[in-house]
Amino acid sequence: MAKDPEKPSYSSSHWRQWLNGLAVLFIIAFFWTLIKYMWSFVKIEKEPVKVLVTGAAGMLNLIFHLVFLGQIGYAIVPMIARGLMLGPDQPMILHLLDIEQAGEALDGVSMELIDSAFPLLKGVVHTTDVVEACKDVNIAIMVGGIPRKEGMERNTMLSKNVSIYKAQASALEQHAAADCKVLVVANPANTNALILKEFAPSIPVQNITCLTRLDHNRALSQIAEKIPNNVHVSDVKNVIIWGNHSSTQYPDLNHATATTISGVKPVRELVDSHWSKTEFITTVQQRGAAIIKARKASSALSAASAACDHIRDWVLGTPKGTWVSMGVYSDGSYGIPSGLMYSFPVTCEKGIWSIVQGLKIDEFSRAKMDATAKELIEEKAVAHSCLD
Ligand SMILES: NC(=O)c1ccc[n+]([C@@H]2O[C@H](COP(=O)([O-])OP(=O)(O)OC[C@H]3O[C@@H](n4cnc5c(N)ncnc54)[C@H](O)[C@@H]3O)[C@@H](O)[C@H]2O)c1
Repeated sequence: MAKDPEKPSYSSSHWRQWLNGLAVLFIIAFFWTLIKYMWSFVKIEKEPVKVLVTGAAGMLNLIFHLVFLGQIGYAIVPMIARGLMLGPDQPMILHLLDIEQAGEALDGVSMELIDSAFPLLKGVVHTTDVVEACKDVNIAIMVGGIPRKEGMERNTMLSKNVSIYKAQASALEQHAAADCKVLVVANPANTNALILKEFAPSIPVQNITCLTRLDHNRALSQIAEKIPNNVHVSDVKNVIIWGNHSSTQYPDLNHATATTISGVKPVRELVDSHWSKTEFITTVQQRGAAIIKARKASSALSAASAACDHIRDWVLGTPKGTWVSMGVYSDGSYGIPSGLMYSFPVTCEKGIWSIVQGLKIDEFSRAKMDATAKELIEEKAVAHSCLD
């Protein structure tokens, strides 16, 4: 039978269908690329986060009317405003609180923040009213407190500070955002945080922490300096600060590793064991005192930087395979009595910290961990007796 020339053959119609399909795919791909290109010009700015900093004026010596520039509050606010705490795309509003006598200095800090024209800083609230300061804050960095002066008994310093933290707990509980994350920096940091937790029962215990990251960073740096062949501090990870932010803390390098030219090695194989059980521990424990002796003022810059590290890792997460030290409410892990704010190794994900489990604890470490827990139990008892 002869072929009808008007009727397209099966293979040519199939070919045409195939071409049509290709054309549709091409059009979709073209528009998708165009949309993606146009989207890259659209910047969706995140909502500003409200960050409270107490003790923000950094008034060290009210008697001689001197403002010591460089105390923690003064050092930390530009770091936060530059995005070092919450990331380069997170705008914030800073709430600055200090006592009445520091009100004028606080005005000055606020003026300087405005003058710095930080792109991420969307507002500054500076006040000596704790309720106004705590209003709707999402993050609270509690630096304000009475530092221990020469001749002052530790218990006197403790009693003054726990009273401050009892009062500020209520203000935070009533006026901060429901998901507010709290970092207590002021000493005695662990016990202040514990009092804050006890007097703000509706703040989830997961949301109250204290700063031992400075000690953690000091431990990393001491190890990097000790290992020969140019190991940088960023090559060292997974040290642990156990316990109290005081001279009984236990800096532990038993689980730490360092990246060297011959690969990742346990730090224990790179430093001598005598050093790791003596000088390493005492240097980290006494570093704050050494800085006060040299600077005639406390370690403000490194404490401010450590507080930024603490919040950044808490909010944005710890890098995979890395833990950090944070003072958190003990759940009984590693045999540490529950009901203490104790520094543990933690990992953070999606704004939640978890204590690293299953680390092997030798006899030497056990004794050190228990000694610092014992000090915290004693501090807790003193704090309660002061508040009674
Ligand atoms: N956890 C750590 O790693 C660490 C490290 C260094 C210092 N610290 C502690 O941090 C605290 C601050 O250190 P600093 O060097 O900035 O001291 P600082 O004396 O310079 O500043 C403390 C500020 O707190 C203010 N303040 C006092 N009572 C207040 C209150 N009720 N409400 C709000 N503000 C109040 C003061 O006016 C002052 O401006 C101290 O307790 C210090 O021991 C902790």
